[in-house]
Amino acid sequence: MMTMRLLAIETSCDETACAVVEQQDSVESIRVLSEGTATSEQMHERTGGVVPEVASREQLRSILPVVNEVLREVGGADRVDGIGVTVGPGLVGSLLVGVETAKALALAWNKPLFPVNHLVGHLYANWVIESEKHLKDNTVPRFPAIGLIVSGGHTDIVLMKSHQEVAYLGGTRDDAAGECFDKSARILLGVPYPGGAAIEVAAKNHPPLKMERETKLPRPMMQSGDLEMSFSGLKTALRHATRSEKKLTGSVKNQLAWELQEAIVDVLTAKMRLAIEQHSPLSVVIGGGVIANRRLREKMTQLCHELRVTLHIPPFVYCTDNAVMIGAASLLAVQAALVARSEAEIVRVTVHPGLALS
Ligand code: KG4
Ligand code: ZN
Repeated sequence: MMTMRLLAIETSCDETACAVVEQQDSVESIRVLSEGTATSEQMHERTGGVVPEVASREQLRSILPVVNEVLREVGGADRVDGIGVTVGPGLVGSLLVGVETAKALALAWNKPLFPVNHLVGHLYANWVIESEKHLKDNTVPRFPAIGLIVSGGHTDIVLMKSHQEVAYLGGTRDDAAGECFDKSARILLGVPYPGGAAIEVAAKNHPPLKMERETKLPRPMMQSGDLEMSFSGLKTALRHATRSEKKLTGSVKNQLAWELQEAIVDVLTAKMRLAIEQHSPLSVVIGGGVIANRRLREKMTQLCHELRVTLHIPPFVYCTDNAVMIGAASLLAVQAALVARSEAEIVRVTVHPGLALS
């Protein structure tokens, strides 16, 4: 049996993530052999958001130690057959560290380089096999699939007809869902980026039956009849709601966090309902940091159950940025496409119509 092993590198933001993944011949799924991550997240706490200059300098510092660590675990560079790397979208200084390292290694080792769009990468976390049982149950997604990408910078709905055909169906016109969580967390709870998880915790503390006053936030563009979305007005509405409160007590904050989470989840669920009804997919695949949110998982599970379509959500560890998903996308989606060595080719093979690279 032929096995293909890749070193995967993901450096689009403040994380330096590397992994070695493998695909056994004709098996539609990916196994993880080793993983390593360095992050500069804590360095950005003071500033309340990622400072690109700081993030890229930390990428430079971390990249070779993390590459060495994951390679050592599998027995060295001889054990890998190629390199997969995120080429965008992301912070350009951070991306460059990963891309240039990958190119240099590909050249030195004379091994192929697989360029991956970060957003498509998020969806491929759904092709990662966690256990033998998982593999036996044959739980990998089937095409056509509707994909929802909900990350810190992007909210997109796509139609995947095959590994090579990914068509953009709609998305946010302004802020991403994750961005709305992050900015709202800052307004409401005063927590730094990334604040999505803090909103979820506050929302969980909200006692639904003891509410004194129901604050209803808008569900922007929910009834627009298409797959377009908008989240920037929601954080403004939240800011107004916080100002109209006489006293922003802990329980009021929890209540507003709950309401914000409901508003975002309602819009995403309504748009996915429409996409599923329009395209009758065999699977729904969701990826990106925001799908770590339990309320969103719950609502998507209910929706897919009601519409009788199989839902795939990655394990928590592969929802936020990681290199395993990039390795999975390299092996399954890019392998059959051309293997790029030059920058021009990298850009050419990774453009998915409508999905941004920057
Ligand atoms: O995919 P990701 O790790 O990075 C990007 O590619 O942007 O996503 C990060 C985003 C942040 O906006 C973060 O607040 C959000 O995912 N996030 C969450 C949760 N965990 C992470 N949003 C809501 N609830 C969560 N539990
Ligand atoms: Zn991401």
